[in-house]
Amino acid sequence: MNPKTAIVTGANRGIGLEISRQLGQLGVKVIMTARNEEKGEAAYSQLKTEGLDVHFHALDVTNEESIQMLPRDVKEQFGALNILINNAGIFLDDKNSILDIDLDTVRKTMETNVYGPLRLSQLLAPLLKKSEAGRIVNVSSGMGAIEDLGGWDPAYSLSKTALNVLTIQLADALRDSGVMVNSMCPGWVRTDMGGSSAPRSVEEGADTAVWLATGEVGRTGLFFRDRKEISW
Ligand SMILES: NC(=O)c1ccc[n+]([C@@H]2O[C@H](COP(=O)([O-])OP(=O)(O)OC[C@H]3O[C@@H](n4cnc5c(N)ncnc54)[C@H](OP(=O)(O)O)[C@@H]3O)[C@@H](O)[C@H]2O)c1
Repeated sequence: MNPKTAIVTGANRGIGLEISRQLGQLGVKVIMTARNEEKGEAAYSQLKTEGLDVHFHALDVTNEESIQMLPRDVKEQFGALNILINNAGIFLDDKNSILDIDLDTVRKTMETNVYGPLRLSQLLAPLLKKSEAGRIVNVSSGMGAIEDLGGWDPAYSLSKTALNVLTIQLADALRDSGVMVNSMCPGWVRTDMGGSSAPRSVEEGADTAVWLATGEVGRTGLFFRDRKEISW
């Protein structure tokens, strides 16, 4: 059987780099993407020296031209795509009130955390539909869970709640094709975004995304943490 092929966004560091590593260790061919070519190439070289079947493609998830090039290049170079992991994300909030948040902060956060995954899913859906076990995994956050929402970090919360809505919409739109779409929360993870006090390692943070992408989960349109369904 041909190995599965996956795209991971924001693969140059943090959880995206570790998702790429864990997918590679499972025998998946991983197209690691990053907006900064130098950093992306460095991360790719690191996993290559670990003996993994990895490739690099430049991708800024906020740049339409960059997104448009991806499906054509993937089709030409790899022929097929099984997995899309929308991992790239930003956290720009520095004001903890919706009343004085700068709209530009909201716009930038939505561009990266929601519209990027939306455009990638739209443009890669035709390739994923041809795959026998197509999967989209959206790396979301408990800070997007309506059940737990409060008044803090408004731009990030808005974006991750919207990303969860995107998951439900995509799951429904792709249900008949067999492509399964789920959100996951990695927990609070020690990365540049999570900071050094976070209790979880990147290995723990990446695990559920990799399980959703490759395991026999058989469920779509849901939200997971630690391989268990959680509330929206
Ligand atoms: N860490 C946590 O505790 C935590 C908790 C819940 C959810 N998450 C989510 O997990 C995901 C990964 O977070 P992380 O902790 O690994 O964060 P991170 O260390 O800050 O890494 C973020 C990644 O996203 C990339 N990125 C940002 N904007 C991009 C763009 N326009 N195009 C392409 N790539 C872009 C970054 O690239 P550059 O290096 O070029 O900036 C970097 O590779 C995010 O979606 C985040 O919201 C994290």
